[in-house]
Amino acid sequence: MKEELHTSLSPQPKLDVVYRVGFIVVLMFAGYRMALACSRNVFLQDYVASIQPGLVVAAPYDSTPHAPAEKTKTKEKINTWPLLYPTFPNEGVSLLQQLHENSTLPCSQRRTFTAEVFGLPRPKNGEPIRLHTGKIHELSIVSYEENGKRRCAGGDYFETDLSGINWKTRPPILDNLDGSYGVQLMVDSRFAGLFVFKVVLLFANFHALDTWNCTAWSRFENVVTVEIEFVAPEHEKLPALRRCTDEDFSLKAWSGRWNRHTWNDTCEIRDDGRFVCIDPNEECQEPWCDGKVGALESNGWVYSAHCKFKIFTKDEAWDCLNKRWLFFWGDSNHEDTVRNLLNFVLGFPLEDVNYFRRWFNGTVHHPDNPQYSLTITKIFNGHYEEAGNLIGLSSLRNDSYRALLTSYFNGTRTPDTMVMNSGLHDAHFYKHASEFAHDGVDFAISFWQSLWTQSPPSIIYRTTVAGAGFAKDGSHARDGVPNPHKMEIFNRIFVEKLQQTLPGLKIVDAFDMTFPFHYDLNHTDGVHYGRGPSKTPWPWHHIHGFSKATQVGHQYFVDLMLVHILLNAICPLQI
Ligand SMILES: *[C@@H]1O[C@H](CO)[C@@H](O)[C@H](O)[C@H]1NC(C)=O
Ligand SMILES: *[C@@H]1O[C@H](CO)[C@@H](O)[C@H](O)[C@H]1NC(C)=O
Ligand SMILES: *[C@@H]1O[C@H](CO)[C@@H](O)[C@H](O)[C@H]1NC(C)=O
Ligand SMILES: *[C@@H]1O[C@H](CO)[C@@H](O)[C@H](O)[C@H]1NC(C)=O
Ligand SMILES: *[C@@H]1O[C@H](CO)[C@@H](O)[C@H](O)[C@H]1NC(C)=O
Ligand SMILES: *[C@@H]1O[C@H](CO)[C@@H](O)[C@H](O)[C@H]1NC(C)=O
Ligand SMILES: *[C@@H]1O[C@H](CO)[C@@H](O)[C@H](O)[C@H]1NC(C)=O
Repeated sequence: MKEELHTSLSPQPKLDVVYRVGFIVVLMFAGYRMALACSRNVFLQDYVASIQPGLVVAAPYDSTPHAPAEKTKTKEKINTWPLLYPTFPNEGVSLLQQLHENSTLPCSQRRTFTAEVFGLPRPKNGEPIRLHTGKIHELSIVSYEENGKRRCAGGDYFETDLSGINWKTRPPILDNLDGSYGVQLMVDSRFAGLFVFKVVLLFANFHALDTWNCTAWSRFENVVTVEIEFVAPEHEKLPALRRCTDEDFSLKAWSGRWNRHTWNDTCEIRDDGRFVCIDPNEECQEPWCDGKVGALESNGWVYSAHCKFKIFTKDEAWDCLNKRWLFFWGDSNHEDTVRNLLNFVLGFPLEDVNYFRRWFNGTVHHPDNPQYSLTITKIFNGHYEEAGNLIGLSSLRNDSYRALLTSYFNGTRTPDTMVMNSGLHDAHFYKHASEFAHDGVDFAISFWQSLWTQSPPSIIYRTTVAGAGFAKDGSHARDGVPNPHKMEIFNRIFVEKLQQTLPGLKIVDAFDMTFPFHYDLNHTDGVHYGRGPSKTPWPWHHIHGFSKATQVGHQYFVDLMLVHILLNAICPLQI
């Protein structure tokens, strides 16, 4: 692998950059701005202290590896595994405030011209940079104006990617609101080896949220692409990940990873469209999952977050779901998830569950044991008409649509679990994030609360995917209207508002799960990661007239992993 370094890397790690900058921000702004900057800086220090005591900004590998102080720090830092996504209270409010300020404050109006990454050693003689596994390496990205000045406000969207042949992750990133962004890298010693770390400036100055047309503003600029060799010190092993319990679903955002221990280099798609590459009975390796990783048909890939997930067998899933009533309310990705649940996990032939309608209500029985049953309701929320699109949460303004939803909640028996999401269609409909927040999300929450008065279901919010590949008009979905920057902000707003109203809310971060796969077309046809197996060029291209069919067969495993994660949330390990 040969990668070019596109931007100059700082020769010196900028140890204190976040702190200094936080201080300048405090001096520069008054009122709300100051309070915000303050609380953020406190948060950041808190975050740094609690998540990574003895923070070491990535130092040149050969300058400090055996210093005694470093050893102590490393030891402490091992307790910080796994990485957590940096979130903070009232983040949705802060984002809306920043968007408001974006058009009013001078700092916000300065255009981002370029960005640089600090904190990585300079590569020597074309060799990859070397960093230790098992440590959190803190880098920063700094945005500059055309005149070379540092920018003094946030709002740039960087895509970060750290991938090796058996590891895919989105290093967590934190907007410090002052033109700098913190990024963290961490690799487990069991995956020591060669990685590529990539930072792409996708959108600058919040242009991803411009009403129309964000495509015109997409930057797609490579900030850095660099090879990093992660080297494992002897005997180093990160602590295990425990299986997710109920409370693990309370985090607002995840910072997980896909990785694999086993794979098949010569795997080919089968005639029925499936990718059975490794033994379906292949067991998960500690600590990345429980159960059979082979069942994911992922050529070994599995996703884990701050805890690991169980991969359910058919019997285990039926035991958990028997006699329950699951209500899915969300975008068309739910079609895939429900079909994949029925087909891959609950044992129904694909023919019987394919082309599931967007509106569905019914009871299904175990194919071999009719005493087991499960009621599923699925109602699309991209439009008030089953076949409509692109009006998102505003569908709820329609009386007959509300009556349809009400009809499932006003009988003697009501759904016990709801799986919700929204965003892709809202991205088209709402002209400003604040409209989405107030006219969309607030209205939706109060509507649902009015139905949940009797016996409230358990609510799982499944964040909306990171749009990928090509969009319907032939443009790239990454810079289209439901681009990842907008989706991430919409996700945060919805999650935060739901969390404030529903203390027991469970969050499943499908955005983080899909993010590492959103760069290419290999696992998604745009915004769908879970279309059914089919040995055809992108199964639904012919329906929508996609022109860019690039490969045969859809790799459905990203959504199948999501199905298992939802099962973990619906039937969590009781302790
Ligand atoms: C943010 O500010 C920039 C610079 O003034 C402006 O061009 C852009 O349209 C703004 N974006 C949003 C979403 O307000
Ligand atoms: C949006 O902008 C892009 C890039 O400038 C352009 O190709 C596309 O036609 C525009 N779309 C619309 C609907 O204006
Ligand atoms: C790899 O996958 C192919 C099918 O595509 C299969 O024939 C072969 O046996 C697999 N190899 C192993 C080691 O599982
Ligand atoms: C939905 O399906 C369930 C189970 O089949 C049934 O009891 C219920 O009446 C249906 N509800 C509506 C509104 O059709
Ligand atoms: C509400 O939805 C119904 C059914 O799709 C439709 O006939 C009606 O025109 C809609 N009402 C409004 C005000 O859009
Ligand atoms: C439930 O709601 C539907 C739609 O609003 C209505 O037609 C039905 O009569 C209601 N049933 C009860 C028992 O209130
Ligand atoms: C995506 O698929 C193409 C062939 O269809 C392949 O050449 C490429 O290596 C794949 N990329 C990844 C990241 O798997």
